[in-house]
Amino acid sequence: MSTPYESGFPVEAPRYQEGHLHWYGCDLQDVADLFDTPAHVGCAEAVSDALRAFRAPFLAADLPLDVCYSVKTNPLPAFLEALRHEDAGFEVCSAHELDLVDRLGVEGGRIIATGLRDGFSFALRAGELGVGMLTVATAGQLQTIIKERGELPPRFPLSLTICPQLRRGRWDLTLNTGARGAAIGFRPGTAELNEAMSAIAAHQQLDLVGLHMHIGSGIRCAAPYRKAIKTLERVIHTASGMGHSIRIVDIGGGYGLTSAPVLGPWKIVSTLLGPKTATSEARAHDTILVEVADALSRLFSRLERLGIRPEVLVTEPGRILSGPCQLLLLTVLEVIDRGRHGRFLLCDGGSMAISPMLMTEAHRVMTLRESGGQYLHYRVLGSMPTALDRVCAGALLPEMHPGDRIAVLDTGAYFVSMNNTFSGPRPPVVWIEEGEARLARRRETEMEVFSRDLLPQRKGADEENTP
Ligand SMILES: Cc1ncc(COP(=O)(O)O)c(C=O)c1O
Repeated sequence: MSTPYESGFPVEAPRYQEGHLHWYGCDLQDVADLFDTPAHVGCAEAVSDALRAFRAPFLAADLPLDVCYSVKTNPLPAFLEALRHEDAGFEVCSAHELDLVDRLGVEGGRIIATGLRDGFSFALRAGELGVGMLTVATAGQLQTIIKERGELPPRFPLSLTICPQLRRGRWDLTLNTGARGAAIGFRPGTAELNEAMSAIAAHQQLDLVGLHMHIGSGIRCAAPYRKAIKTLERVIHTASGMGHSIRIVDIGGGYGLTSAPVLGPWKIVSTLLGPKTATSEARAHDTILVEVADALSRLFSRLERLGIRPEVLVTEPGRILSGPCQLLLLTVLEVIDRGRHGRFLLCDGGSMAISPMLMTEAHRVMTLRESGGQYLHYRVLGSMPTALDRVCAGALLPEMHPGDRIAVLDTGAYFVSMNNTFSGPRPPVVWIEEGEARLARRRETEMEVFSRDLLPQRKGADEENTP
């Protein structure tokens, strides 16, 4: 039987078969029984489907697309391997991420390194691996590169992050990195950008191969991309005029997931205060991508007419790719009926432990066992005694009982990477491939969480705690 779930993205929707919820050939009730909850469940075939769907509009627009998945969104090796298998590239921002993709056998040229969060040694390692480019977003980062450039390979490929200074709605949480007043990114039309481009041109060791932007996250319409692309175009002209040969145009990530939209601050607050439904309308996922691809195609044509021919269009999707490829299984611990104040499900995980995304996004919830009868409206919470430990502001589910299991959909982006130990060890990740479920990350133990703690020394005691 089909379910009320209609994905806004062409990843297979979980469906009921013989009374149990199935996803990509796996019985999720069996998965929950075998691996216990809370548990993240990812799927290799979902990754292929999501990547294919993401690429389609750009390829249809005949753009020289290279998808470099933003690893921080979900750095699970099984997930990265599924992407590598589909010939994706990777955007990494830490020494760990760089090392991980290298260990998975990703060619240096398919890696975009971002920033200097881990210091200059990150640039050195990126140079050793021959990454496609290192993107710098601040004058300080560029100064470090220039100062230490002697240690880098010759013609070290750099790109600069442009902040297109977009106007942001007062309550819009999605456009942050590309907005006016954002902390990072070089601002077009200012001395800081021209000086950065001149400084790179002045050093033979460095090669400005790319220009980059990343305007926000969870964006659901193409308008800000169109504006930002126009600004980027002006910067490409300026760079070309200064003698730089821009081979890579990198428009970052930021595309919202229609099936798990980012909520505005008012929606977050109002759903905390009352039993309201946070609805998520499932719009066709690809309107934004089609429109962005169209704007880029026109950009490439205009550049071509001026003799500027970037070889590669890099995109760095995170949330839109990884979000639909993972779901979260939870068990209902208690059902509480508060009359006109609503019905509550208390579960074994919520936003305070599993991921703050459960607070700021609207996720749909399904029960693992199909049951007939009336559907009721529930507010779904974690096990902490506060409304802030949210799973879902409003879910329509059949009558629920303690011990029932639920699946929270589209939890692949910023869940594993933001999982914390606030209410205990972190859940495992179960990985579905060809209808088989196996562990891709085991459940953390209490010992692992607390083993770094040192007992306080008692006065007069001989033993010393060694750090
Ligand atoms: C430089 C860069 N690229 C891509 C992404 C992915 O963003 P999203 O998940 O919104 O697509 C991020 C996320 O923070 C980022 O910092």
